[in-house]
Amino acid sequence: MLMLAIESSCDETAAAVVENGRRVLSNCIASSVPLHAAWGGVVPEIASRAHLENILPIVHAALSEAGIALDRIDAVAVTRGPGLIGSLLVGMEFAKALAASRGIPLLCVQHIAGHLISPALGREVNAWGESVRGDAPPFVPYVGLTVSGGHSSLVHVKSPTEFFILGETLDDAVGEAYDKIAKHVGLGYPGGPLVDRTAAKGDGQRFAMPRPLLTASNFDFSFSGLKTAFVREVGKLGGPEAVRQDEQLLADLCASFQAAAVDVLLQKARRACKFVRSERLAIVGGVACNRGLRTTFRKELEQKLQLAFPEPEFCTDNAAMIAAAAYPLTLRKAHAAQRISALANLTLDAPVASWQS
Ligand code: KG4
Ligand code: ZN
Repeated sequence: MLMLAIESSCDETAAAVVENGRRVLSNCIASSVPLHAAWGGVVPEIASRAHLENILPIVHAALSEAGIALDRIDAVAVTRGPGLIGSLLVGMEFAKALAASRGIPLLCVQHIAGHLISPALGREVNAWGESVRGDAPPFVPYVGLTVSGGHSSLVHVKSPTEFFILGETLDDAVGEAYDKIAKHVGLGYPGGPLVDRTAAKGDGQRFAMPRPLLTASNFDFSFSGLKTAFVREVGKLGGPEAVRQDEQLLADLCASFQAAAVDVLLQKARRACKFVRSERLAIVGGVACNRGLRTTFRKELEQKLQLAFPEPEFCTDNAAMIAAAAYPLTLRKAHAAQRISALANLTLDAPVASWQS
């Protein structure tokens, strides 16, 4: 089954062609990140306009990179929510029109479900080390640690369409905290990869940063206090300007922030696996690209757990993951109705069956 998938929930217009929800034939992304950089964050109106301009070229690019003509596509998948409503609407309405005009099924997907199923994807092998040729449904069950710019959660992926939320952030998402501290010290936007690079040269033990909710007996996170601790430490050291002048100081601060964030994520993920008796853990979302996080998780957990780290192109927002999450829906024939609409606050556990009418 060849699926064309579309993702437009935030600032990336993405399209992909994926075979059987696993084998990626193309994964194309047009990002409006440079347009938002001057504001230090995503401006919804600019994002929507960029989606309108990018959607048709990116769909053409995905088909042409895959070498697949539109009339060979069996189904269209799209992100229904959550996200910025103006952004979601562009992808949703485009996908609905395309599916209707071709007379093929439309599958609607929740964005976080896409991140959670992203370990199924690959060009030859996937993040679980399986061949992506064939038509097996995604590998389950496992615990998914979602670490992105908009979400941080621990989820028990019981089946490819059944997600049990164990815990989530009570305030900032971890990627949001990365972006905000980077903005504070003038590193640039988006901050995650820049903090990652800076932290690699630093000493994570130099500054004592808090580990929020580490000892709480639940699986929730909180990253806003950690962000504030970083800002306060910068203030004590003379402010952002002074910190920027001292390369080692900035690196040590970033490394100390990262050490605290990774420590909380790791310990809570380990406990969640124990709680649901899972020997498999998938780390998904943009922050899963973080080199410090990958190294520490591998060192501390690889002996006991089977870890899945999707390739970086499948960690940050992309459309291939939307096809991966839609494939199990095609097996259940859970096709979406034409009158379905985007939903900015769509939850992970929303019953997919009700989307059919
Ligand atoms: O999954 P994603 O593309 O979008 C959302 O669904 O939110 O995640 C984007 C987030 C941003 O906050 C970005 O700064 C962060 O992922 N990010 C990273 C790294 N690469 C991207 N954070 C830390 N280290 C990285 N290497
Ligand atoms: Zn995302």
